[in-house]
Amino acid sequence: MKILVIHGPNLALLGEREVAVYGKFTLDEINAALTALAKKEGVDLETVQLDGEGEIVEKLGKARKEYAAVIINPGAYTHYSVAIRDAIAAIALPVVEVHLSNIYAREEFRHKSVIAPVAIGQISGFGINSYLLGLKAAIDLIRNKK
Ligand code: DQA
Repeated sequence: MKILVIHGPNLALLGEREVAVYGKFTLDEINAALTALAKKEGVDLETVQLDGEGEIVEKLGKARKEYAAVIINPGAYTHYSVAIRDAIAAIALPVVEVHLSNIYAREEFRHKSVIAPVAIGQISGFGINSYLLGLKAAIDLIRNKK
């Protein structure tokens, strides 16, 4: 069983970018924590950071053949990318939406997620734990389906 984690735009700068909002962990540290949890659970994990909307759409399109589930932090695309929303709707894979910050406690333009209606669920506001909870949820989901 293989799970894909997609980190969206600007997330390569974690650890130095708006630390008060996104926390002190770097992307490498988040990926290391995810990989450790995946190992403990006995699943394969791939992580990728993509800034481009088209790149994310392309990766999702290819994911349907290779992975059992996807964890995605779509970054700012969360709030307006119909292309990413449609890419998720097009693939028959469970997709878990995660956010480091609580998007509902921030600026009004962040309160809407166009991704949420096509995701299995959304985890928002727990920093690095949003990813770990998302991975846990995805693993449970896949196991319960079998
Ligand atoms: C984010 C929240 C988005 O609003 C923002 O544009 C991001 C990160 C989060 O993880 O909290 O880039 O997705």
